[in-house]
Amino acid sequence: VNKGLKSYYTSYFPVGVAVGARNLSGQSAEFIVKNFNSITPENAMKMGPIHPEENRYFWAEADSIVSFAQHHNLKVRGHNLCWHEQTPNWMFKNADGSEVSKEVLLRRLKDHINTVVKRYKGKIYVWDVVNEAIDDDSTKYLRNSQWYKICGEDFIIKAFEYAHEADPEAKLFYNDYNTERPEKTERVYRLVKSLVDKKVPIHGVGLQGHWSIFEPSEQELRNTINKFSSLGLEVQITELDMSVYRWEKERRPKRPDESDEYTAELQQKQAEQYQKVFQIFRDNKDKVTSVTFWNISDRYTWLDNYPVPGRKNYPLLFDTNFQPKQAYWSVVNFK
Ligand code: G3I
Repeated sequence: VNKGLKSYYTSYFPVGVAVGARNLSGQSAEFIVKNFNSITPENAMKMGPIHPEENRYFWAEADSIVSFAQHHNLKVRGHNLCWHEQTPNWMFKNADGSEVSKEVLLRRLKDHINTVVKRYKGKIYVWDVVNEAIDDDSTKYLRNSQWYKICGEDFIIKAFEYAHEADPEAKLFYNDYNTERPEKTERVYRLVKSLVDKKVPIHGVGLQGHWSIFEPSEQELRNTINKFSSLGLEVQITELDMSVYRWEKERRPKRPDESDEYTAELQQKQAEQYQKVFQIFRDNKDKVTSVTFWNISDRYTWLDNYPVPGRKNYPLLFDTNFQPKQAYWSVVNFK
């Protein structure tokens, strides 16, 4: 019998899922409550959606997610306060269209963080404060985003300080992808260590966990968890999914001969990969304080559109009819 995913992990960590307002009624709402005890808004709290114009916030979707969580006693991970994507254009522009100064941009960042974090104070226990600030090029350090171009490294430091001021109880995280790849582990470590050394209020590192049946290796994952934990930081898995394809960075069209069949072999490999990473999470339950999936079931996943639009992916524990997959049983059947 399937007791619901979360019930197998009560003595380990909360198990979460990314949601939108569309998931919060009917069958999918019940499904969420049965299987998960934490939620993350997939898009609703990002700067663009929630703060589309300088003096206008759009709260409806984020509010509905938070009230659903309160009603069902779920934790909420806030995602996110500062990112190079989904930032509204007005943020970087003066009224005359020219680029804002560092001073103006930091003031806007402060207003934004202050307003959003205070609204959900006491209801959101952890925030992804800065998302994906490391460059994709392994020979470089910080990403040359508009935030960085205008503010340098200070936007990162300030974002954490503003969030801490707005809600001193909230846990504050730096969140990034591919952090288990050794070259990136080093660069993320360099960043968060520099924050810790400067006494910036940071409490954890989010490993997004957009993984595949090919990576990460056991050693990479164990090493990454240990490394961040050695700085006194919590580790959370914030956006877990397990692609059945090899990771490609560039978007490309689907090839005419390309199969997206979910073969028995792929299902088996995926179950093994899920089993492996959950074993590692359990072994590290003092360090890993939450595991969140990025989407509910294979019916809808952002990976259907990325990096190959129209190529179906099957990265989650539940199939397109919300039924547990082989991967599910590999995660819940343990001694
Ligand atoms: O809501 C608009 C709609 O009004 C518009 O007509 C339509 C046309 O493009 O776009 C809709 O917005 C889309 C939004 O998802 C909501 O569905 C955006 O185009 C689309 O880019 C956006 O994608 C999200 C992506 O972040 C970019 O923000 C994905 O849903 C979301 O899963 C993904 O999540 C990110 C994490 O936040 C950070 N880590 C990586 C992860 C995967 O990319």
